[in-house]
Formats: sequence, C-alpha cells, structure tokens
Amino acid sequence: MSTRVYVPADATACSLGADPVADTLQGLDLDLDIVRNGSRGLYWLEPLLEIETAAGHIGFGGATAGQIACLFASGIPDASHENCLGLVEEIPYLQKQQRLTCARVGITDPLSLEDYADHGGLAGLEVARAMAAADIVSTVTDSGLRGRGGAAFPTGIKWQTVLNTTAEQKYIVCNADEGDSGTFVDRMIMESDPFVLIEGMLIAGLAVGADCGYIYCRAEYPKAIASLNQAIAIAGEAGHLGDFQLEVRVAAGAYICGEETSLLESLEGKRGVVRFRPPLPAVEGLFGKPTVVNNVISLATVPIILARGADYYRDFGVGRSMGTLTVQLAGNIKQGGLIEVPFGVSLREIVEEFGGGTASGKPIKAVQAGGPLGTYVPSSQLDTPLDYEAFKEIGAMVGHGGLVVFDTDADLGAMARFAMEFCAEESCGKCTPCRIGSVRGVEVIDKIRGGAEPDDNRILLQDLCQTMIDGSLCGLGGMAPLPVLSIMEHFPDEL
Ligand SMILES: Cc1cc2nc3c(=O)[nH]c(=O)nc-3n(C[C@H](O)[C@H](O)[C@H](O)COP(=O)(O)O)c2cc1C
Ligand code: SF4
Repeated sequence: MSTRVYVPADATACSLGADPVADTLQGLDLDLDIVRNGSRGLYWLEPLLEIETAAGHIGFGGATAGQIACLFASGIPDASHENCLGLVEEIPYLQKQQRLTCARVGITDPLSLEDYADHGGLAGLEVARAMAAADIVSTVTDSGLRGRGGAAFPTGIKWQTVLNTTAEQKYIVCNADEGDSGTFVDRMIMESDPFVLIEGMLIAGLAVGADCGYIYCRAEYPKAIASLNQAIAIAGEAGHLGDFQLEVRVAAGAYICGEETSLLESLEGKRGVVRFRPPLPAVEGLFGKPTVVNNVISLATVPIILARGADYYRDFGVGRSMGTLTVQLAGNIKQGGLIEVPFGVSLREIVEEFGGGTASGKPIKAVQAGGPLGTYVPSSQLDTPLDYEAFKEIGAMVGHGGLVVFDTDADLGAMARFAMEFCAEESCGKCTPCRIGSVRGVEVIDKIRGGAEPDDNRILLQDLCQTMIDGSLCGLGGMAPLPVLSIMEHFPDEL
C-alpha cells in the first residue's frame, strides 16, 4: 500500500520551495501517493511535509529538495526521526486554534470534491436547499456573522435588504481583492478550500434569490484564480451549481477596487471610482441591480453556520463579536501565519503566544491592526481583547484581521509618511480631501521630520487629518489619517 505524503501547493509554501520538494519526492523509488494540499498556515515551517501514519499526520518542517534524499535515505521516515515535529495536529500553534471557516485549509486536496464532502463540505448547502429564503437569511442574522472585509456590517441584515428588494435579476459578488497589508487568508481559502467559497455563494444566492455570481479576485493571486476556475468547473460538472452562473473576474490591480462600489464599477468594465451612496449596492449594485457584496471569509463562513446552526456559531466569541476571526500574523514576527480563534482572545496572546514575539527577538513596539489604514496599537495596549467594540474603544479596528508587528527599531515616523503616500498613490481622485489632502500630508510630515517648524506643522497635520476624516467620500481618505494620528498620540517622539 502506498504511503500518502502531503506537500503544500500554497503560494507561500511554493515561494519557499515546495514544488522542488514535491518533484524530488516523485522521483524517489518509493511507493508514495503525493497530495498537493494547501497550507495549514504555519508559515515559518513551510514547506511543511506531512506523512500519513496510523496515528495521524507526522510533520517535517522547512524541508528543502536537497534534504529529501537524506530524509528518505532509510525509507519513509517515522515519528522517531530526529527532524520529526511529531503529530501535526498536536503542534500548539494549531492545537490552540478553533478552526471553523478554515476547518479544511491545509488538510484536504483542494480540488477533490470527495475529500471536501468527507470533511463536512456541502452539508450547509443541503440544509439551505431545504429552507425558505427568509429562513436562510434569519439563520445568518442570528449567527451574528459580521462582514470580515473590514466594515464588520452584519451579513444577515445586508442579505435581508437584497431579499426585500424586488428585481428580475440579483447578483452575488465576492470581494476577493484582498489589498490590505499583512493579509492573506482570502488567498488561502481560494487556493486551499475553493469549494467552501463556492458553497457560500450558492447559499447566498438561495437566500436572496440571485442566480449569478462573480468572484472579483486580485490579479496578484494566479494560483487562487486557477484553483477557483478548476473548482467551479468540477462543481458544475457534479451538478452542484444548478442554474447558478459563477465566474471569476481578475481585478484591476488598484487598492481602491477593494472598496465595494469601486469594485462594482470595475466589474462593469469601467474605471474603479467610488460611487456615491445611497443607493446602497444591496438596492442598486452591479448593473444597477440588487447585489450582495461580501468578503471571501464572510461567504466561506456561511456553510458551517447553515450546517451546524446559528447558535453553534454565535456561542464562540464575546459580546457583539461572535464566532471566530481568521487572524493573519505578519511583519516582524517569529511565527507568522494564519490562526483562527474565537473573538475575545487578547492581542498579546496572539502576537506573543501564537506568534512567539518578534523575529528579531527585540521587544514589540507596536502592532498595526486592520491593514494600511489601521492604527498602530502600542505594546501598552496589547491586553486589548480581539473584539470589534473593544478595538473601537482604543481607536483601533479589526478590519480583515491582519496584524503587522513592529519591533523597537521600527521608524514609525516613516510609517506615518507611508500611510499618506499610500493614500496619495491609491486615491481614486473623486474627492478633494483625499486626492489633495494626502499629497499635502506627505509634504507636512516631511517638514516635521526635517525639523521645519515642527510644532506648527504638527498642528497643521492634525487639522489636515481631521479634514480628511470629516470630508472624504470613502474609507480610503477617511481612514488613512488614523495610522498617522495614532503614531502622533502614542509615539510623539517619532512624529
Ligand atoms: C479603501 C477600501 C478598500 C477595501 N478593500 C477591501 C478588500 O480588499 N476586500 C474586502 O473584502 N473588502 C474591502 N473593503 C470593504 C468593502 O468596501 C466592503 O465593505 C466589503 O466588501 C463588504 O463585505 P463584508 O460585509 O463581507 O465585509 C475595502 C473598503 C475600503 C474603503
Ligand atoms: S476618499 Fe479617496 S478613494 Fe475615496 S472617493 Fe474620495 S478620492 Fe476616491
């Protein structure tokens, strides 16, 4: 009987040499069944080779193609091998997680429908098919699921608006533009478990009465695009799509195209410029029709909610932050990767216990939470629980769950400048506070950092930030000042 060996085909694992490892294994004179799974998200151990044994999967981290011959010199290595990490499931980083949305990520063969169904896939769709549309919507509302793209708007309420709006055509649009710094979980889902996103979109279609969907995926994710296209074809051939038309559209490469109204413009073949609201996309969205626009993680979480029930999901988490959050650990961190934990876990636990502190070994100075427009949380606030409301109280935001860690050597004044520069580069240009304000912001920060009338220029910068917050049409111009202000408040010596 052949031995099953798993080598991730995930983009990060491949960038660390997973393909040559798989090729070398293929060339060995051993009876191996090589499965290209996704990554479990323990990125510091990639490429993480897993060998199936009677006791479970045993792991070998950081394997290089050159080391494979040595590792397999005496046949298939077992748990007694000196490089063995033991049972993968027992690695504390994984064991302490609560994987609901990412239950199959890194475990199954991403393009095997059989594997998907064997690991709980399609159960939610089956339940939804037997329900009335309004009941599907109430289940999602009762679960407490809030949008994971950034704004944390309740998913069920958005779906209810689309359901309530009468139209001959409605759409489901998946926002897979994933532009935030330090985020990669959308990509992992699309590469490692594409069927769960398809299942979530089918359920959304049943809930609101839509029979057409688009996945707007960033162009920088070629593996995800390929994986989704293959998965859509496989699901279609197996009859799971029914009459639902589903297509992947390759995004335009602009950060602002992640903002939902810009995204819709881009999907319609126009330049990605923000639309005025109202009307909401839920009422007049794609081609003027009622449209659900949801992030990958929001949609990929729906199947487990339908399969296990609203109460099961909402029992995880705290207060109004229910369920789990997929946190992505990046920046100067020892153990970077994906963790899925119930809301309520403290930031300190995440960066110190899961992340193991900084990669440099120096103390943590700050954590930027929520992408390039997120605030810098100082180390003194690391005991803040992961919770939308608790974050709001300290002026921070959870966003898409990306955490970028900085050590005490980081130049946060330069990061403040970067926030304004990023806004200037990525502005769609529709409104003045953002288009002009961000350029002036860079200039004023340069003056402060250059020592030109720093006190007066600090007052000017604060005033400019407030103008951008108050007067910008969308979150790009409205939030770009937040990292700047947080640095001025918590790190006054740096700006
Ligand atoms: C400048 C800007 C960029 C955004 N980029 C993304 C993105 O890359 N992915 C995403 O899902 N949401 C992004 N959003 C949020 C979307 O506008 C929208 O709220 C989201 O797609 C709704 O889905 P959700 O309710 O499931 O979170 C962005 C918002 C702004 C203001
Ligand atoms: S804030 Fe910036 S990105 Fe948003 S509409 Fe105004 S110019 Fe465009």
